[in-house]
Amino acid sequence: MTYLVTGGSGFIGSHLIEKLLKEGHSVINIDNFDDFYDYKVKIKNTLESLGKKSEFEFSQKENDILHLISISKSENHTLYFQDIRDKNGLEKIFTDHKIDQIIHLAALAGVRPSIERPLEYEEVNVRGTMNLWELCKQFGIKKFICASSSSVYGNNEKTPFSETDNVDKPISPYAATKKSGEILGHVYHGLYGIDMFQLRFFTVYGPRQRPDLAIHKFTKLISEDKEIPFYGDGTTARDYTYIDDIIDGIVKSSQYLEKNSGVYEIINLGESQVINLNEMLSTLETLLGKSAIRKNLPMQPGDVTKTNADITKAKNLVGYNPVTNFQNGTKKFVEWFLRK
Ligand SMILES: NC(=O)c1ccc[n+]([C@@H]2O[C@H](COP(=O)([O-])OP(=O)(O)OC[C@H]3O[C@@H](n4cnc5c(N)ncnc54)[C@H](O)[C@@H]3O)[C@@H](O)[C@H]2O)c1
Repeated sequence: MTYLVTGGSGFIGSHLIEKLLKEGHSVINIDNFDDFYDYKVKIKNTLESLGKKSEFEFSQKENDILHLISISKSENHTLYFQDIRDKNGLEKIFTDHKIDQIIHLAALAGVRPSIERPLEYEEVNVRGTMNLWELCKQFGIKKFICASSSSVYGNNEKTPFSETDNVDKPISPYAATKKSGEILGHVYHGLYGIDMFQLRFFTVYGPRQRPDLAIHKFTKLISEDKEIPFYGDGTTARDYTYIDDIIDGIVKSSQYLEKNSGVYEIINLGESQVINLNEMLSTLETLLGKSAIRKNLPMQPGDVTKTNADITKAKNLVGYNPVTNFQNGTKKFVEWFLRK
């Protein structure tokens, strides 16, 4: 099968491409290497996902990306340096390839920066996503997986969070763009018969995790003996999900889409093991053999107090089965971090 993966040079996307290629599929990756975090990290992600080792002499962003495009091209992999906000640019790619399924991961992903740059979040996460659906309509593509987020639950009081809970009260622009994606996706499903999954990921971690996310940020600062910004009293909690389990959930959803039609489903992909910030930090301290230097700060606006996934629907519908607990997952993350 030929997959179009957007955001394929990011954290989750690079793991997904690695998996799809191993399974013998062809992959088209669309990524604009945006500056939310260092583009060099995304170049490394792509090389790792393709199993390539390259002595990369980083020079200038545009040159580096063009070089990456040339060395990463193969019979079953094509990388496009392309912004999803540019519909004409996307249209050329859709014209040149016969796409069986789209897995849309490209987004501006941080919660806190979305408060600073809400309009840009709307442009990428909402308009960019609509551009893809418009092209699905034009080119008759009927299978679509979209990355949503646990953040749509806001400060939901009922736990665990279930897909039937009301999600009308997001607390950050980022969360609101993800909720908009779910709603607009339903419109395109209804009007144009696009079979669709909206996958609500719960804090994903593991090798290549985004450098802005807490596990990665804390690991780096502890290992460098630097102060860590510690927001709140440590009782905020997250349902952390290991990257391999998320990839398993995406692949199983993709297989379900291939076998079924008339599909529009929202599912939680979490681990259902909730860890608070204090526990997370002490796990990292133990793994690194070092104590953290905490700088206590008040809770940040936009941050939810807790996430906790009910994954019954994902288990029953697609056979999602997360197997990596937090201890094992963080061990693998820290080993990767120390090796790189
Ligand atoms: N990592 C998590 O814990 C988590 C949790 C919930 C939801 N998600 C969602 O999963 C998806 C992937 O997240 P990630 O953690 O891998 O993030 P990431 O930032 O590592 O990956 C996103 C990729 O999208 C690309 N991108 C951004 N704007 C683009 C644009 N305008 N055009 C083309 N490409 C663009 C980036 O360059 C990046 O490579 C996102 O949609 C995110 O919102 C992630």
